[in-house]
Amino acid sequence: MTHAFPQTVLHTPRLTLRPFTADDTDDTRAACADDLTQHWLPLPRPYTREDAHTWCTRTAHDLRTTGDGIHFAVTERTNGRLAATVGLKKTDWRSRSSEAGYWVAPWARGRGIAAEATRALAHWLLTAQAFERLELKAATANTASRRTALNAGLREEGVLRNAGFTHHGRTDLVLYSLVPADLGSSPAA
Ligand SMILES: CC(C)(COP(=O)(O)OP(=O)(O)OC[C@H]1O[C@@H](n2cnc3c(N)ncnc32)[C@H](O)[C@@H]1OP(=O)(O)O)[C@@H](O)C(=O)NCCC(=O)NCCS
Repeated sequence: MTHAFPQTVLHTPRLTLRPFTADDTDDTRAACADDLTQHWLPLPRPYTREDAHTWCTRTAHDLRTTGDGIHFAVTERTNGRLAATVGLKKTDWRSRSSEAGYWVAPWARGRGIAAEATRALAHWLLTAQAFERLELKAATANTASRRTALNAGLREEGVLRNAGFTHHGRTDLVLYSLVPADLGSSPAA
């Protein structure tokens, strides 16, 4: 049997997490072509409007229906504009573990949006979806992502040597996790 997460919309005080649509194409292209996003994520380079349209209308949805994960477009409740993405990938249905990832668009950075969205995603995964573990991996030098993981309530576990890559080469990754036992004691509760 193929497992898949259900089509889902989540809300936080400032944000809505919902499926991508074709209307997200131009903002997704701008966010994924941005220098900081391209520095840390091995996305297509150059990142074209066609890449963004395919992601918003096909790939993000296929990754849910095939069971790999779920990818949310994150919009601000005040203006409805796309601010970020947060998602799950490499889901292991047998051990009930999945891996989070995110970017925030340049126009929405600096206000902790990634942590707020990740906290909501983590809580949904470990409660509504009854998962046992959420992982997040950040390059050792990616301070903003590492702060985001901690701000979302995850705990640092250790370093995975030479486990990641960017357009600039290989990198060590710091591994973070959240498990159900943390929910009573961490800010993710
Ligand atoms: C990582 C990312 C999603 C965080 O976006 P955000 O939610 O707007 O994060 P903020 O700018 O509010 O910063 C979060 C924390 O990182 C810190 N931070 C941000 N930029 C930083 C920098 N260049 N150097 C050091 N710390 C930084 C902030 O001070 C804040 O820390 P605090 O909680 O201790 O105050 C965003 O930087 C991004 O899109 N980066 C490119 C893609 C990426 O790296 N994805 C993650 C791959 S694992």
